[in-house]
Amino acid sequence: MKPMKIPRIKNGTVIDHITAGNAIKVLKILKIPQKDGSTISVAINVKSRMGKKDIVKIENREIAHSEVDKIALIAPKATINIIRDYEVEEKHEVELPNELRGIATCSNPTCISNGGEPVQSRFIVLDKEKPRIQCYYCEREPDDVASRII
Ligand code: CTP
Ligand code: ZN
Repeated sequence: MKPMKIPRIKNGTVIDHITAGNAIKVLKILKIPQKDGSTISVAINVKSRMGKKDIVKIENREIAHSEVDKIALIAPKATINIIRDYEVEEKHEVELPNELRGIATCSNPTCISNGGEPVQSRFIVLDKEKPRIQCYYCEREPDDVASRII
């Protein structure tokens, strides 16, 4: 049987090379599904040159910069392709910055960033390949990074 392919899209964003099994977490980050939202296609455990991967295609929406860092936290090898009139107009590999501000919450309930003070969360990125982050304020490292993303 031939592998089933997701159709190409006319306009929107293709998030490719997502760590196999993590597409659903990417959808959660993008706050999908939305009522009256765009058409989304998802492929999980697709064979590729480098083993298996997931793919998410979002029609008629170009994802924002703030969303890209969140995606990098759970899919550090993802590629963001911006599609316009069927052509790949832009292609970016996600890359985690050295520091992340305001995109995840600290897992330590007594951390100053959780204290109701106007202190934005701040993490040092310890490992960009197999993402590990550490709170700048209390040095706590969340076990499950994906669950801390806002
Ligand atoms: N794609 C799509 N709709 C289009 C154009 C591209 O869904 N109109 C998808 C392709 O199926 C692929 C991704 O966007 O999953 C990137 O397309 P392309 O750059 O053409 O593929 P590759 O060269 O294989 O990408 P890479 O080198 O990043 O692996
Ligand atoms: Zn903390």
